[in-house]
Amino acid sequence: MLITRVRNILYHNPDGVVNGRTSADLSLDAGMVIQYNETDITPMDRQELDNLKQWFSDYCRTFHTSNAEDQQNITLKQEHTLRVCDNMAEIARDLSLDEGRSMLAEAVALFHDVGRFPQYLKYHTFRDSVSVNHAALGARVLIENNVLGNALKREQDLIIRAVTLHNVFAVPEGLDRDALLFLKMIRDADKLDIWRVSLEYYTQSEAERASAVGLDLPDTDSYSPEVLESLRRTEMVQMSALKTLNDFKLLQLAWIFDLNFASSLRIVAERRTIERMAALLPDADEIRNAVDFVRDYVAGRLRET
Ligand SMILES: [Fe+2]
Repeated sequence: MLITRVRNILYHNPDGVVNGRTSADLSLDAGMVIQYNETDITPMDRQELDNLKQWFSDYCRTFHTSNAEDQQNITLKQEHTLRVCDNMAEIARDLSLDEGRSMLAEAVALFHDVGRFPQYLKYHTFRDSVSVNHAALGARVLIENNVLGNALKREQDLIIRAVTLHNVFAVPEGLDRDALLFLKMIRDADKLDIWRVSLEYYTQSEAERASAVGLDLPDTDSYSPEVLESLRRTEMVQMSALKTLNDFKLLQLAWIFDLNFASSLRIVAERRTIERMAALLPDADEIRNAVDFVRDYVAGRLRET
């Protein structure tokens, strides 16, 4: 199915420079280096990524349906994936990643939500809490279909790990440098597009909205003091703390504190994400203060870069 890539390589010593650091800074810790004896294939290149994109597109097509509501939900996730790929490419460019890592980053973006399609087919929702962990399901889809069979084992590991962990509350400890890099990248690239999807959703009428996006939270004027308190502490908000849709909007604002890269913060500022989210929150002093706090946080971090 896929083109075999022929050339001797030592994946752990690529020539790339990341954010002014040499590639040595990004290699695994000495004790953790895994030597692969794969002399018959090379790191992921544009052709290989195009093959994976073709697989993804074919896979999505198997979920297409004449039911308008279902198709809207499937299309939403397909478009989300493509936008996350764009965000990922922008972050990779800003980090000056080498070619192999840039392609790998985009492959992670391409597959991060592949589990959404079988999730929707079976449960008709995108809420993991009432269905299945879509990240773990996505990893299973990739493994069971041997989608990554033409990639280096090291690349397969990195993609599967980033897909599996992209939705965890906090980045786990103990990951090697590349695993951490791709996980942080996908978490940023994903958030950047979830803000787009959510802002669109909040401003649409009930009839226009994709049905599987909602969280079933009451859309009232109220919000929870504990959620605002998390924001003031620059902490992420737990889903269990949510009582209203406003709480969820505040939770999404708090994602700003979890962004890892300067390019992501710049995109947030360019797209006016904070201001647009703020316009959908109640007109109250404590909300305005919280929004100002988040905006100042972004400005402060951008000044540091
Ligand atoms: Fe996801």
